[in-house]
Amino acid sequence: MSANQHQIEPTVFAARRRTLAEAMGGRPVLLMGHRPVPRNYLANPFPFRQDSTLLYYTGVEEAGAACVIEAGGHTTLYLHERTAADALWHGELPSLAEVAATCGAEEARPVTELAPGDYATLPIAEAAANAHASSLVGRTLDPADVLGTGDRTLLDAVIAQRSTRDWDEVLAMRWACFASKEGHVAAMEATRPGTTDSAIQALIEGVFALHGMGTAYPSIVTARGDVLHGHATGATLKRGDLLLVDAGAEGPYGYASDITRTWPVSGTFTPRQADVYDAVLAANEASIALVKPGVNYQDVHLESARVLTAALRDWGLLRGDIDGLVEQGAHAVFFPHGVGHLLGLDVHDMELFGDHALYAPGRDRSDQFGLGYLRLNRDLEEGMVVTVEPGLYWSSAILRDPALRERLGDSVEWVVAEQWVGLGGIRIEDDVLVTADGSDILSEATPKKRDEIEELVGSGLPPKDRMSPADAKCQLPEVGVRG
Ligand code: GLY
Ligand code: MN
Ligand code: MN
Repeated sequence: MSANQHQIEPTVFAARRRTLAEAMGGRPVLLMGHRPVPRNYLANPFPFRQDSTLLYYTGVEEAGAACVIEAGGHTTLYLHERTAADALWHGELPSLAEVAATCGAEEARPVTELAPGDYATLPIAEAAANAHASSLVGRTLDPADVLGTGDRTLLDAVIAQRSTRDWDEVLAMRWACFASKEGHVAAMEATRPGTTDSAIQALIEGVFALHGMGTAYPSIVTARGDVLHGHATGATLKRGDLLLVDAGAEGPYGYASDITRTWPVSGTFTPRQADVYDAVLAANEASIALVKPGVNYQDVHLESARVLTAALRDWGLLRGDIDGLVEQGAHAVFFPHGVGHLLGLDVHDMELFGDHALYAPGRDRSDQFGLGYLRLNRDLEEGMVVTVEPGLYWSSAILRDPALRERLGDSVEWVVAEQWVGLGGIRIEDDVLVTADGSDILSEATPKKRDEIEELVGSGLPPKDRMSPADAKCQLPEVGVRG
């Protein structure tokens, strides 16, 4: 879904391409866009999403688009020819010249004229367009190996530009965060025992749609927060459950927001839930307080690990000194993921480019359970946007894992910890812009104080009264008895 409440001036895209052309020393660059991906037959595709690098340099969201950038940033856009049949089925599209004007491209041609050439290019995620780009450059581009099969100079230039956000990008992300806040607040207001996780998800995504936005990633709406990427199943929410909602709208030009809040279905945290919530919130705030240029993001992660380890030790679930436990990775039994990631045009920004984009030279991924899931290990720079999303989870699978039990031994009170299973999980996730001397929390308007959340939960109409009949039980018609 396109939601260009904010128009980026064509000169901005042209300037980004000039910077790229300069880094390439005049070598022509091919940026290929995605094609629609079929679900079950060709004319029934998944919702379309453009390649993020093409979006960054052109903002063109049209399927099947491509561009070639030459010396000085001279750009030729390639688009499908407009036909009467397309206009009949899909509506009339702007002309090729009109699309070129939106991004300041010098020329626009039918995509059938895109000829093979000695282009620098990068693999992209969508298979058909990636195969087309491979045939144009005469070698196999592999999205699972962008560093190995893409052009290294181009890759480094794109990573350098896409790592930090300019004014237009921050504005687009603020819009996305605004819609996400509206969705989360509506969901809190509508939550009560008896409604379903999928009704809450429908409500959130409906609110995004009211703002002209879709989702930046599949929403996580579940009372089983311990399943990290669990999704709504239609389960009825019960008093005593915690509802974990990780849902972010995708704003203008494809910019992501990524926000998690966790709240009690009943409207009141139990004393144990409140303790866990306060510990996760303390970790979230302590990590955010560290965010500023020059700080290693791994230290932002370790700060959350320390705060959570202290709480786990107070509750009798960990044993030992805090730094030793963190070094050993004992906290990861309960906080198994990294504290977050870069955020931009992709929700895990530039994850397609692998650790070459996300780990600084000389820093390798840890093979320790937990730390190995840290998605970013670079020094923060002004203009980066990162998420800060600590959480605590009680997963039976992890608590019973023989390898972890063997390695961590007495550092974890395994039997006591198992008694906490059923609490699920609590995560609190914010989107944080690195500023010149600190940070600006783009998701700040989404409530996260415990008393604010308790006041909001259940205070509005349930989903079925807000958006009937989405929450109504499916009523089968009377069909009689088989004769
Ligand atoms: N929503 C996916 C994540 O938080 O990383
Ligand atoms: Mn995230
Ligand atoms: Mn998230």
